[in-house]
Amino acid sequence: MTSSNPLKAAYDHATRYIGGVAQRHVGARTTRVDLLAALGGSLPLGATDPVEVIVHLARTADPGIVATIGPRYFGFVIGGSLPAALAADWLTSAWDQNAGIFACGPAASVVEEVAGAWLVELLGLPQETSVGFTTGCQMAHFTCLGAARHAVLSRFGWDVEERGLFGAPEITVVVGSETHATIPTALQYLGLGRSRSVIVDSDDQGRLRLDRLEAALPSDDSPLIVCLQAGNVNTGAFDPIGPAIELIRARCPRAWVHIDGAFGLWAAADPARRHFLAGHDGADSWATDGHKWLNVPYDCGYAFVRDPAAHSAAMSPQSAAYITYGQAERDEFRWVPEYSRRARGFATYAALRSLGQDGVAAMIDRCCRLAERMADALRSAGDGIEVLNDVVLDQVLVRFTSPGGDAAAGSADAADADDRTRRVVKAVQDDGTCWLGSTVWHGLAAMRISVINWSTTEADIDRSAAAIVAAHRQV
Ligand SMILES: Cc1ncc(COP(=O)(O)O)c(C=O)c1O
Repeated sequence: MTSSNPLKAAYDHATRYIGGVAQRHVGARTTRVDLLAALGGSLPLGATDPVEVIVHLARTADPGIVATIGPRYFGFVIGGSLPAALAADWLTSAWDQNAGIFACGPAASVVEEVAGAWLVELLGLPQETSVGFTTGCQMAHFTCLGAARHAVLSRFGWDVEERGLFGAPEITVVVGSETHATIPTALQYLGLGRSRSVIVDSDDQGRLRLDRLEAALPSDDSPLIVCLQAGNVNTGAFDPIGPAIELIRARCPRAWVHIDGAFGLWAAADPARRHFLAGHDGADSWATDGHKWLNVPYDCGYAFVRDPAAHSAAMSPQSAAYITYGQAERDEFRWVPEYSRRARGFATYAALRSLGQDGVAAMIDRCCRLAERMADALRSAGDGIEVLNDVVLDQVLVRFTSPGGDAAAGSADAADADDRTRRVVKAVQDDGTCWLGSTVWHGLAAMRISVINWSTTEADIDRSAAAIVAAHRQV
């Protein structure tokens, strides 16, 4: 059935897709070559009717669409789309505001102001914190570490925005050995070098070791940035945030402390888990995502900076004569590394408003309980399944051995267990009941399960655990 309106055609397809997403094979069911054949070819010379374009796109792309918004997608760390957030995202496209300058769309600017303040409160950050709405956590790191670079150099009278890093005082950057890849990438973008950081060892769960941090801190007052992590991408573990900040403040009072809380920062919104973050409000900047645990559609990250002056100095472009700058009004380009951009705040506003504070807390709590349920189901399924991590958040790491085998690193069966684990992951992906990926954890191949979707139920976990166990028995 087709309509004469491309928006209606898109709506029909989208609602059908969403209605069926829980029943669908979770992974993609096609290849690059087949997708290229179906979607590619040379650009037609003439026009195509817009409805036809949408209908063709929806049908042809369909086998290459992964049901990441569905309740049994457990890959990477990928949230779904809350209904209100998705609907607001559609409106965002219909309104098509340029969220760079207040004058181009006052509502887009004010909604960011309001939603930003809600986030600051919900995540337990200092009241004065400024907020940038970024594409994701990668650019949130870039924004926060740009503010850090500004602040640690301006203490030495160095204006990095005007003069760059040529001849600047050297900045020491300290990171944990388990830091996420997006931190070195942000350092790369900022001219601070991807591989010149001081690396601090982590423990068996991926938490930065305090004794090693102490030894890594410089003894002088030179420019220093320390990056901590709330939520390891494999285990979900938290660095000892409060004690680490205390130690840094005692030894290097003028250091800048940044926290990567891409998904873990959301624990601050959950009374049952906010203790993992105790003391996090003592940091200088925090990066997280809306498109992970808040279940806002892509692209949606947040950069939080305690010192708004450093934040805006690092991100503001040179003034241009044709732009009227707001005074009390928020010109969004002062807070992110972009000029013209999508009005990201609407979807966040809708997500937060539709859930309320209690709803956000309940969503975080539910996902964590479901992750525990998954771990329990797999542990109790019998021989050859080992949960490698302490399940403290949404992440479960699993390893498979032949019944009776020894999966530990260095054992004779370890290679066999690596191979088996990868084959189980592949078999689960092929089966399509759920989707999850693999990783290497401390030298061991492991299945990574991330439970972070608002719509996942206990039944989804039980069904997925059964599919994983069946795959283990079959490979
Ligand atoms: C701890 C951590 N930091 C940063 C990121 C990067 O987030 P994004 O892909 O939104 O840039 C991730 C993604 O999974 C993550 O887990």
